[in-house]
Amino acid sequence: MAQILGIISKITGSRILVKIGDVTEMNSVRMNSFLLRYVSVGSLIGTKLVDGRTLVLSVEEILDSDQGIIVTTSISGIYDDALRKFTFGTNTYPLINEKVFALDTSLLKSIFSVKDQGRSTIGTYAYDPNVQVGYNPNILFGKHLGVFGNTGSGKTCTVVSIIQQYIRNNPNKDIKYIILDVNGEYQSAFETDECEYIAFSDLRFHHTILDIPEYGKLFRASEGIQYPALRECIRNLIENSFFSTNDEMWDLTRLPNEIDNWIQNHAYSKNKNSNDKDQFSINQISGYLRSMQLRIDGILNDEELLKVINSTDSEGTLERIKKSNKKVFVLNMQVSSDSLDIVLYLLFKSIYQAKEHRDKKHRSHLSLILEEAHRYLNPDVKDTKLGNYYIDKLAREGRKFGIGLIISSQVPSMLSYDVVSQCNSVIMHKITNKRDMEFLRNVLRISSESMYQQMSALEKQYALVCGEAFPSDALVKINNASPLPDSNDPEIGDIQPIADGM
Ligand SMILES: Nc1ncnc2c1ncn2[C@@H]1O[C@H](COP(=O)(O)OP(=O)(O)OP(=O)(O)O)[C@@H](O)[C@H]1O
Ligand SMILES: [Mg+2]
Repeated sequence: MAQILGIISKITGSRILVKIGDVTEMNSVRMNSFLLRYVSVGSLIGTKLVDGRTLVLSVEEILDSDQGIIVTTSISGIYDDALRKFTFGTNTYPLINEKVFALDTSLLKSIFSVKDQGRSTIGTYAYDPNVQVGYNPNILFGKHLGVFGNTGSGKTCTVVSIIQQYIRNNPNKDIKYIILDVNGEYQSAFETDECEYIAFSDLRFHHTILDIPEYGKLFRASEGIQYPALRECIRNLIENSFFSTNDEMWDLTRLPNEIDNWIQNHAYSKNKNSNDKDQFSINQISGYLRSMQLRIDGILNDEELLKVINSTDSEGTLERIKKSNKKVFVLNMQVSSDSLDIVLYLLFKSIYQAKEHRDKKHRSHLSLILEEAHRYLNPDVKDTKLGNYYIDKLAREGRKFGIGLIISSQVPSMLSYDVVSQCNSVIMHKITNKRDMEFLRNVLRISSESMYQQMSALEKQYALVCGEAFPSDALVKINNASPLPDSNDPEIGDIQPIADGM
């Protein structure tokens, strides 16, 4: 028999007030070996509807009033005991004075389990550790997931734990995870047979995937003279390289020379008498092209970057990932923000193109993990940010091609609204910044106000999960990650005594 807590005393729209009969019932902490269960803000309780189904209520507020203890709840959804199925929301209300009861473990298990979707759980329900909270992997990885929270709240461990659990419990599923590791944390988080680690210098995303307007963006060519000059030079290089080697992978280091030739050919020459010739001197044209040339030189002088975007010495990284039988690919992206931006632009475009042209029968799924996404998906710095363009496209259209994004950030308000609003599911760790909280509240569907309030007070490894992939919004203790990513909270070392004579 369910533990009766009290009766319904008031019903207003989506709010239902419960008068608690005996407070010891609500606070009676039931011992289950060492595990405790109790009713608190955020936990779920239930009442019967006239048709026999259970109306599930989420506790928002508990207060001691003149009439005794009053619990304010919001309607979470309906659990159909016969079908063993939970659905959000209700059109039916309970009767006044109807009994309200604690939900027992078996009912909670039914609410939070996801049937027929392989073995995929994210953690345990915070108010009952016997209850596993499941998710639908087709939605969690097939659409987009946001993982947000303050620094140290557990985002990286959450991403790692979800991937570890899924690949270990579902070894036959055809899914690959590409992790953009901007802090060098992920290499230690997977066993060697699960994961391939690719150092930055081993990445290969050839620049020739770009079209000419995209070269214009890359080299920040202005409209007037820079872009037309660049366009002509690149066309020449493509043509020449194709005729000489039958290869369209032209060498980027030949671009400055080609530009110099272009300047010579277009400058006014004292030796030529043609009036039709351009009226500008070499110095003038060089001056107009200067800023673009500096940008090109900057890229060509960065040997590390050049190796990634201009080498043809080994196969492209996506090809390598496609051929590998590993499930997880950690791409080391610990480089300057400019290099990161350029490589991400090429990476996102390659993924977009590869998937757009993919064989329809080939069902393999790709999950792209964008760690610390605010660093490169920040729409406020449009001029320098190349990465945004294709990621917006991937966020909007990727799902159709079997690409899901996992976007992790400690400052969600710095991300593009369009990208965050495409997240069908969200895992929210502790967030204290008011701007981020408001941003998330506006973009996402968070079912209850209490959940929103709880966001600022969550412990490490605890998170609110909500959205399409989860059977119900819930406060969850995320499964342990094992092995852990290399993301331990830093400890300040002891100060070493200064040696004599130093
Ligand atoms: N699921 C988990 N399993 C095991 N340990 C965890 C888990 N979640 C959090 N922790 C602990 O919390 C610490 C911080 O977590 P994590 O590095 O994931 O935070 P973060 O939100 O990614 O921080 P940052 O924004 O600084 O990258 C970890 O080093 C680990 O000790
Ligand atoms: Mg992290």
